[in-house]
Amino acid sequence: MGPTSMQPTATLVDVTSRDGVGVITINNPPVNALSPGVPEGISAAVTRFQDDKSIQAVVLIGGGKTFIAGADIKEFEKITSGKKRDLGVMRGMLTVLENCPKPVIAAIHGTALGGGLETAMTCHYRVAAPSAQVGQPEVKLGLIPGAGGTQRLPRLAGVAKAAEMCAGGQPIGAAEALQFGIVDRVVDGDLLDSAVAFARELAARGGLPRRVRDLSDKLNDAAANAQAITAAREALSKRGNRLIAPLNAIEAVEAATKLPLDEGCRRERELFEECLFSDQSKALIHVFFSERAVSRIPGLPRDTPLIPIRRAAVVGAGTMGGGITMAYANAGIPVLLKEVSQDALDRGLATITKNYAASVKKGKLTQSQMDQRLSLIQPTLNYERFTEADIVVEAVFEGMDLKKKVFAELNGVTRDDAILASNTSTLDIDQIAAVTSRPQQVIGHHFFSPANVMRLLEIVRGKASSPAVIATSLTLARTLGKVGVLVGNCRAFVGNRMFGPYQREAQFLLEEGARVEQVDAALVEFGMAMGPLAVGDLAGLDVSWRIRKEYKHLTPPGMREALAADRLCEMGRWGQKTGAGWYRYSEGSRAPAPDPEVETIIADAARAAGIQRRKMTDQEIIERTIYALVNEGAKILEEGFALRASDIDIIYINGYGFPAYRGGPMWYADTVGLSNVLDRISQFEKEHGNWWSPAPLLRELAQRGKSFASWDQEKAGAP
Ligand code: 3HC
Ligand code: NAI
Repeated sequence: MGPTSMQPTATLVDVTSRDGVGVITINNPPVNALSPGVPEGISAAVTRFQDDKSIQAVVLIGGGKTFIAGADIKEFEKITSGKKRDLGVMRGMLTVLENCPKPVIAAIHGTALGGGLETAMTCHYRVAAPSAQVGQPEVKLGLIPGAGGTQRLPRLAGVAKAAEMCAGGQPIGAAEALQFGIVDRVVDGDLLDSAVAFARELAARGGLPRRVRDLSDKLNDAAANAQAITAAREALSKRGNRLIAPLNAIEAVEAATKLPLDEGCRRERELFEECLFSDQSKALIHVFFSERAVSRIPGLPRDTPLIPIRRAAVVGAGTMGGGITMAYANAGIPVLLKEVSQDALDRGLATITKNYAASVKKGKLTQSQMDQRLSLIQPTLNYERFTEADIVVEAVFEGMDLKKKVFAELNGVTRDDAILASNTSTLDIDQIAAVTSRPQQVIGHHFFSPANVMRLLEIVRGKASSPAVIATSLTLARTLGKVGVLVGNCRAFVGNRMFGPYQREAQFLLEEGARVEQVDAALVEFGMAMGPLAVGDLAGLDVSWRIRKEYKHLTPPGMREALAADRLCEMGRWGQKTGAGWYRYSEGSRAPAPDPEVETIIADAARAAGIQRRKMTDQEIIERTIYALVNEGAKILEEGFALRASDIDIIYINGYGFPAYRGGPMWYADTVGLSNVLDRISQFEKEHGNWWSPAPLLRELAQRGKSFASWDQEKAGAP
């Protein structure tokens, strides 16, 4: 019986032979994950070759663009929800591969990740294309290798490298894999030809297949092993690790130094399952799929024609324009950079040069890469070459009149098919588009500061933005190394609209009795990259002060004023840039120092507002601030300004330092339980006022016992 007669493996695993070598090709596009049917197909194929006297050796190779990119991540949810038992079938396949009496060679191109590398390491030999990458990235999903990776990798690469790869999750290239003994050969030319030739060589040599389980020379020095494990743990704690998976990964690698392989695998399995059933892993898997879901836009076919982006132009070389220009140059796209005066242009270019030089100094960039990127940036004071641009990103001062003036100018100097994007953070894209003769080409590209670093790009869809402009923006985001999330054109769009209530509550908490450092520390402990008050100081307290004044008419009736924050701004305490805000900053330093004067200002403001101050718990701080995000997020969803709750999660993780291991604010609310969240919000409404009135969608989902994730699924399934 051959696997080609089996269902459903027939199409997933192809079996052929060449010159006495059996070839097993995995065909499970796009990434050859070990989905149901694949391990069964491989096992059947190996068994068949094992029994076939005309076959002397076996090659395992991936069809399409890659070797195996890992276990099928979708299967994990089935295990944790009890629909599936464990990874038994996959582990069974590894036993079949390892026990094959004929040499089995893994031929790796693309990526061998997670279960893919574990499969390769269970084969007897590995050859790789020069561009191949191998790694154990499970920690990025809150997991550890679960199919022997933590046991076989130390036997091949040594304990230090294995701990680094399993706890850090970064893949390495073929040359490094060769250097560390993870692959046996790196081969140019046709990979299958080389693998078959190698297989024939091995078969001709005779002898038993070489099993990684039998290798011990890299594990012999117990003292060095212990030192490597200690160093790995120290490196982790220095990085302020809050995750279970990297710790468990190191523990599993440590087991490899002390236990025989099968016992080590049993320990690995326990540690793997502890991770698999953790909230952290569920959240990180949600993030993995959510990040890929952002480009699925209802009504926008995947084959929507794209506008080729070969050249760009940026208007305004300030904080944002400079960063956006760097993002284009980093992606290898030539970019014109326009300013109003030579001075402003020189300042902008000097900042760009300084930023690149800092990267060179840190060893993140070579001098020649820096020079190459700078050569892609063409400074200008006029629009002369703007007809060359396939996209223009406007990043001039925030102000409707100026934006309209600039867009009217762009309308006259760019090609009809060029995308005209605005980096506005608060203004109405439709009003800006209306001054052009082609509003279908206009869209918001809301970058986050620093734009060359932050991964988030909010793509703000105007009412006329064309499908090609939207689709190109989503693809372009990836080219720029960003994650682009399509949002609607509401005030402050999605991220900043939610950030308003979050920061408002942080400030109100101060007036009610919390200390500045306590609020920030509670949220940092929760996992936020920075506390909301320190973020305010960084961004400039004057920015939200101006917005508060400008949009006063939109404040819900009865809403408390941000008295303490206003007072700070009136005193010229605008944050880091003035050396004082919620904290005090010594000359040239960004380190926030508590300031007793601020506590007095807050106490005075509270007295003026008649607020009775009391002790606050960290739990209350978290609920007040994070549920403010959640409630606004639910309103945004209901109003249709975000397509999915998971899009909001991606925005918050990539733009606002929300911890990925909590899955984003909406996922976090799901884990707390929406009825619990609703109860607290209803209580806040009673205690504080109607600005806490629960979003109708939150109420509805809580009452139906549903979650935001289930709402996303219902919507995705809807016709
Ligand atoms: N399982 C299921 N689906 C996967 C997958 C996996 N391991 N890896 C990728 N996919 C899916 C993606 O969801 C996406 O689906 P979509 O088109 O429907 O959105 C599609 O494959 C293509 O993925 P990308 O858009 O990410 O493609 P890229 O070419 O940009 O990247 C990649 C390819 C580098 C392989 C990247 O997909 C990746 O990093 N994948 C995850 C690798 C990984 O984490 N492997 C370990 C899994 S856990 C494991 O193996 C446990 C084991 O120890 C037991
Ligand atoms: P900035 O003040 O640092 O830079 C604006 C630049 O535009 C100045 O250098 C100015 O000389 C230049 N400029 C003004 N008119 C011009 C014209 N007609 N042609 C060419 N250049 C002109 O401002 P920043 O912070 O970079 O903000 C720019 C835009 O980005 C604003 O719309 C802002 O709302 C938005 N934004 C800002 C973020 C931030 O964190 N600073 C974050 C996201 C968006």
